Amino acid sequence: MSLLLAPGAWLWTTRAGAERDLTEELALLGTAARPLQDGLVLSAPPPAGAEPAFARQGLPVAALCAPEVEAVAAALRPLLRRPYALHLFSPDSEAGNALCGLVRGLQGPLTARLDRDGGPPRLDSGVAARAAGGQLAQVCLMSDKQVAVGVVPAVSAHSLAPGGRLRVRQGGPARSARKLAEALLWLGRGPERGDLCVDLGAAPGGWTRVALARGARVIAVDPGRLAPSLRAERRVRYVPYSAFDFVPEEPADWLLCDMAWRPLEVAALLARWGRRRWARFLIANIKLPMRQRAAMLARVKEILATGGWVDVRARQLYHDRDEVTVAAWRGFGVDARPPQRRAGRDG
Ligand SMILES: C[S@@+](CC[C@H](N)C(=O)[O-])C[C@H]1O[C@@H](n2cnc3c(N)ncnc32)[C@H](O)[C@@H]1O
Repeated sequence: MSLLLAPGAWLWTTRAGAERDLTEELALLGTAARPLQDGLVLSAPPPAGAEPAFARQGLPVAALCAPEVEAVAAALRPLLRRPYALHLFSPDSEAGNALCGLVRGLQGPLTARLDRDGGPPRLDSGVAARAAGGQLAQVCLMSDKQVAVGVVPAVSAHSLAPGGRLRVRQGGPARSARKLAEALLWLGRGPERGDLCVDLGAAPGGWTRVALARGARVIAVDPGRLAPSLRAERRVRYVPYSAFDFVPEEPADWLLCDMAWRPLEVAALLARWGRRRWARFLIANIKLPMRQRAAMLARVKEILATGGWVDVRARQLYHDRDEVTVAAWRGFGVDARPPQRRAGRDG
């Protein structure tokens, strides 16, 4: 059966260039899918609870219409049953970004129109909608002639940010810091005051700085140069050699890993940490410079599971390039609790 862009189908936003990865990943989940345009993938309804890593946001298409206030309001109105946040976006691609003016032009009048209609209350953000047990009302501008409209319960939304694009502002010595900051928003938790973090592939120190700012202690492992300001920090211990040779003296709370190394070897190293119960929580950025990324990611997740890591989740976050962020936990001790299942404070 050929997959049509029609009510009942699902639309997914991706990083431009990752459409094939998402299509292959959905196929591995048993869901027929095809790239629709740069930054957008069309699929059959996914299995309940599916969380495809290469998708940024998903919406069940309820209606297709012209990008005009009355048409979009008419399509949305019957779908709004609870307090909701309105997300208008275009795909994150060259063509999609050219529609940003149209998105902005539609936002104000559409919001005003829906408010005048007097339906359920409109909330300011996806986070507020989730807290209120509400909905995400999504309007995706696919072109200057067509929008797709769909609504999901905010609690089960793939992301709480419009189109799944969550820009994080974060200082520090490396752009990488933004990847960890975004991962913590995605997970809704992270290192806390007094926690011990081991940061594999730490140099120049963006992730270490993020953990330090949360009050954690960090063992930063990297043969590369850690920023001198971090080396001088009382709560940082710098271990200037390979992560493959490092053995911790005590179990850590968090294992952080952003090593630029082969994914299967990194996964095997992280599995070893799990097997030996050397850390409770894992956040790792896995580099995927190859073509078959979906299959490679599936393999990485399998290897992590052999180490006893559970609830292994993966997401190509907004700040990830040819890489994905993986999170998992390894329960031991009385206070071991899994990270929250759903997106946290993002949005
Ligand atoms: C993307 S950078 C990490 C950036 C870091 N997370 C930050 O925020 O500043 C990748 C790092 O992996 C390190 N790396 C590569 N192989 C490694 C190994 N075997 N052990 C430890 N670090 C390694 C590199 O030296 C490099 O500093």
